[in-house]
Amino acid sequence: MKAIIITGTPGTGKTVLAKALAEKLSYSCVDVNKIIAKYHISEGYDEKRKTKIIDTKKLSKSLIKEISSLKKTKVEGIIIDSHLSHYLPKKYADLCIVAKCDLKTLKKRLKKKKYHKDKIRENLDAEIFDVCLEEAKQGGHKITIIDTTKGIQINRVIKKLNL
Ligand SMILES: Nc1ncnc2c1ncn2[C@@H]1O[C@H](COP(=O)(O)OP(=O)(O)OP(=O)(O)O)[C@@H](O)[C@H]1O
Ligand SMILES: [Mg+2]
Repeated sequence: MKAIIITGTPGTGKTVLAKALAEKLSYSCVDVNKIIAKYHISEGYDEKRKTKIIDTKKLSKSLIKEISSLKKTKVEGIIIDSHLSHYLPKKYADLCIVAKCDLKTLKKRLKKKKYHKDKIRENLDAEIFDVCLEEAKQGGHKITIIDTTKGIQINRVIKKLNL
């Protein structure tokens, strides 16, 4: 069973990409929010940053548990879509996709999602500094960058992934 993780700044198109890949490859998508609820990982809500407080070590442990139980099923592959997915130790991920898009597009997308302007700024900065990409690199993941600015052509993406 292959495990693909998709990370990237919020709004860069992880979920759109995950769904398209899952459909084309007949993989299952792992819903990280469900895992956070199932394993009681959230340690409260950060009001200022408008985000759940997540212990990334606990999340990784829970993801490992999910992966091992899915390995016992017939599922051919799984896709884990979350801006925290790259915290999974590299030995559990065959590939780490980092979704990216240009800043103007990202700003538009986050505005459409009705994010507060401070949150938009925070995410634009995260994209400028390539926080997810740099952390994924530090984790030693095998990385493929997919730019979603102009949309994705799923067949081209799959070719690039070289699975
Ligand atoms: N490939 C694409 N083609 C066209 N529009 C896209 C594409 N990917 C993303 N978008 C646009 O960007 C929005 C955000 O995408 P998406 O929800 O997939 O991002 P995300 O990285 O999963 O964000 P979050 O971290 O908040 O879950 C989508 O609602 C869509 O409008
Ligand atoms: Mg998403």
